[in-house]
Amino acid sequence: MTTTLATEETRVATITTGLDRLRRSLHTGSRIAAPYRAAAEPAWHSSYVAPAAERPPVTARMASFGYRERELHGRADLVDDLAMTGPVRLLTPDGAAALRGICQNLEASAVHNDYVVSRRLRGVESLSPFVHAMVRDPVFLDTVSRLVGVPLIPHPLRDAGVQINYYEAAADASRAPLVAKWHLDGMNYVFTMTLSDHAEHQGGDYIYYRGHPRDFASRREEITAQGARHPDVHIAPFQHVGDTMFTRGSRVYHAVTPVTRGHRITLAVSLFCPLLGDQDENRFWHSAPDDGLVRTLNNWNALRRAVRRPASYCRREDIPIRPLARRSAARD
Ligand SMILES: [Fe+2]
Repeated sequence: MTTTLATEETRVATITTGLDRLRRSLHTGSRIAAPYRAAAEPAWHSSYVAPAAERPPVTARMASFGYRERELHGRADLVDDLAMTGPVRLLTPDGAAALRGICQNLEASAVHNDYVVSRRLRGVESLSPFVHAMVRDPVFLDTVSRLVGVPLIPHPLRDAGVQINYYEAAADASRAPLVAKWHLDGMNYVFTMTLSDHAEHQGGDYIYYRGHPRDFASRREEITAQGARHPDVHIAPFQHVGDTMFTRGSRVYHAVTPVTRGHRITLAVSLFCPLLGDQDENRFWHSAPDDGLVRTLNNWNALRRAVRRPASYCRREDIPIRPLARRSAARD
């Protein structure tokens, strides 16, 4: 029997540049591999949001990643310096099981993604009524806002906002072994929820570098060569279906090691702080190769509206504005 062994070596994800970016942005093919039957989904209920968790095992501020005060997000009256926290359960076991079933059914629609090691489905909010309702639910938004310490709403870049990643062992052992690819996200507030138990797969670990991107760059060779064995690289302790980690994805280098046995599904929910919208770190050309120019322009207009007039954006999009109360009055 032949097995595929993943190397422990990692590398930095290749970002498309120049003409390649433009060529990929002009694609007009379908963004999903197969149609999805949304009508078969169970309905979302606010009662699926789990009661607030006790202290999560991992909680780290930006200072412990080497960030200086002047580099932090936030403003004088709103501290925003959480680097990561978790795992927490955002949903009850019933809620997580319903979401797992939905994401399993959505797998046929996922497309290959060569930026990270997975097949991926973007724009999940527009495919799944359950997920659409979840990320707009006031109880859900209250829970995640409290966890991070700033008000959060669904990200206006709708296609990048909620994504599902599907990981599995390479079927063809003769191909080059899969490699974990280090990267920073465009998103500032990323909640990664595993929808698989760790016992269902080998590999598939979320690893992160506990340090500043500047240090990552200067130590790049040793970090990529040692991967998870590097003393400043840690494994996020995901264990069970529903376990969720918050990460400031745009500021913390991370990667996922290849799955060598079994199957792993994660849901990545990226949120947006309407009070700190001008600190959003997404770049147009980061999502255009995935979503195409037209969709990216539409998404970008929504982001601009949310940055300039957050309260009217929320009203128009039917997003509960309770977390914005008082603070945004002066801006909108
Ligand atoms: Fe990422």
